[in-house]
Amino acid sequence: MRLLVTGAGGQLGRGFLEEAASHPLFGEVIATTREQLDFTDRSQVFDAVTGFGPDWVVHLGAMTEVDACEDNPDAAYLANALSVRYLKQAARRTGSRICYLSTDYVFDGRASTPYREWDPTSPLSVYGKSKLAGEAELEADDLIVRTSWVMGRHGRNTLKTILSLARADGVVRFVADQVGSPTVVDDLARAIATLLLEDMSGIFHATNQGHLSWYDLVRFVFAEVGADQARVVPVGSAEIAATRKAPRPAFSVLDNCAMRLAGLAPMPDYRESVARLARELWDAG
Ligand SMILES: NC(=O)c1ccc[n+]([C@@H]2O[C@H](COP(=O)([O-])OP(=O)(O)OC[C@H]3O[C@@H](n4cnc5c(N)ncnc54)[C@H](OP(=O)(O)O)[C@@H]3O)[C@@H](O)[C@H]2O)c1
Repeated sequence: MRLLVTGAGGQLGRGFLEEAASHPLFGEVIATTREQLDFTDRSQVFDAVTGFGPDWVVHLGAMTEVDACEDNPDAAYLANALSVRYLKQAARRTGSRICYLSTDYVFDGRASTPYREWDPTSPLSVYGKSKLAGEAELEADDLIVRTSWVMGRHGRNTLKTILSLARADGVVRFVADQVGSPTVVDDLARAIATLLLEDMSGIFHATNQGHLSWYDLVRFVFAEVGADQARVVPVGSAEIAATRKAPRPAFSVLDNCAMRLAGLAPMPDYRESVARLARELWDAG
């Protein structure tokens, strides 16, 4: 199986490449960062896809800064939606399929039970809308993997922010009314590899099992690394709304329903995976 990977320098990109390297069935893997392939440039996309003719384009790159997307919707739609149109057009010429990473932010978060793949979408933010627009560029034979709260050892993520706050002093405020499922890159990369190797198509939700608020996650991580949980103070989203451009869904838990129904093993519980990653990053300083 030949793969062309975008966003190879991102946190998931780097983790996915490590995972792909351990699978003999992934023969040739071309990893592209922005320097090798700017996927907002149509001619670069056509050259890269038609020049290699991959079985799958694994499109992990995106504009992921949620507040920056709100500030610059054109840039968000270009990176998150039009890029998928370009990749799809090129992929039609070579018979390649697209694996596209999407997000829990396609939902408005007003539910009180986890969202299934077949539930209606209703994004609140430009980021969520642009990612949903990217999904809409694809066809039944492509693969859409929606995930949430991604954290790994490479790149920037909220777990690293939490750990640096744990090393410092003073009160730490996190929202208690935004609930989701943390997802560790190693587990997500393995799930994506499995979906590709199993020749799956359509929409799959892929997150670590279990869910909690950001406030509870910070307390969980503090406990794992021996920091004082009493320093963590809950705030409401309304209290910090002025500091955040984009609205966030209140409850964006994704039921990994399609994986379950397809008989694929569930991803591990976040309590196991986040604890392991938190301790690893903490020990590494
Ligand atoms: N992070 C999360 O919590 C989360 C949650 C749900 C879904 N997702 C989805 O998961 C996927 C991977 O996210 P991630 O956490 O790995 O994000 P990330 O660390 O921000 O990586 C995104 C990568 O895309 C690259 N990129 C952006 N625009 C580009 C362009 N025009 N051409 C080429 N490369 C470009 C970035 O390069 P530069 O560094 O040069 O900008 C970066 O390396 C994304 O599709 C994201 O929407 C993420």
